[in-house]
Amino acid sequence: MTGIITTGEKRLILVSGRAHPELAQAVGKELNTEVLPTTAYDFANGEIYVRFNESVRGCDAFVIQSHTDPINQWVMEQLIMIDALKRASAKRITVVAPFYPYARQDKKHLGREPISARLMADLFKTAGADRLMSVDLHAAQAQGFFDGPVDHLWAMPVLVDYVRSRVDVSNVAVVSPDAGRIRVAEKWANKLGGAPLAFIHKTRDTTRPNVAVANRVVGDVEGRECVLVDDLIDTGGTIAEAVKVLLASGAKDVIVVATHGVLSDPATQRLSECGAREVVVTNTLPISPAKQFDKLTVLSIAPLLARAIREVFDDGSVTSLFDGAS
Ligand code: R5P
Repeated sequence: MTGIITTGEKRLILVSGRAHPELAQAVGKELNTEVLPTTAYDFANGEIYVRFNESVRGCDAFVIQSHTDPINQWVMEQLIMIDALKRASAKRITVVAPFYPYARQDKKHLGREPISARLMADLFKTAGADRLMSVDLHAAQAQGFFDGPVDHLWAMPVLVDYVRSRVDVSNVAVVSPDAGRIRVAEKWANKLGGAPLAFIHKTRDTTRPNVAVANRVVGDVEGRECVLVDDLIDTGGTIAEAVKVLLASGAKDVIVVATHGVLSDPATQRLSECGAREVVVTNTLPISPAKQFDKLTVLSIAPLLARAIREVFDDGSVTSLFDGAS
């Protein structure tokens, strides 16, 4: 059989949706296993068919899907895979959603809105998921939406190691692109030797999607290399505006760091023209050649996912991967 590690009675299988097979394969390589061969295709009317080509009975199954565009299709595919695993008697099913779908809709901003991030958790649970693993949730408290164990991984160790090699740590300021993410920036500042903090005063029109205006910098960035940290870059509006305001406020230069490179149009153009020295993301989402640009660096999240999967499978400690921090 392919795709299976055995440890006594336990068997680990890694299955993948079609959104980002390269990531699943990279995780499999780290785990020294293969992704389970799976048949998946779309019917003419858009309905999805999935079948695992080998037995999954009694397995500890990890279902990786990368929630990229078209996100609703990939959500549905992952749900169908979970259902198939449950009906084929997998012993335990873990959803691995490196970028949690609908993460930004985690509360009602206005009356009569949904809380879509909660709905996603309910759908995973109803389909048959026992646990959930994700990276850098937009709001950490969304862990509570899922009725079961959630492994919330941080990309920070991967990103910090890289950034340290790219800046003069003694002359860095860590910048949050809005006031809401200042706690995350604070963690970055600690990791970068107690660097000073700043944030951008940003306003949003809640009636119009993806429109952000960076008003001014709060904090001193004069002459500093700014590390601008966010959880995700979607259309690039937030980051491009922030970079411009930082440079206009005397920053020496700006390196942008984000876990999830959603990069919806026109992000590539905005980011390549905004004046940032470098834009660093991970591969929680696939980044097509058309979306790439000279200043973009993509780091692999596969080793971190694989280590976390290994800890879960071995009943070890995922927290130990992050120096005990939560
Ligand atoms: C906002 O709260 C998020 O952390 C991101 O800053 C935002 O969603 C990015 O969107 P865009 O790139 O379209 O401005």
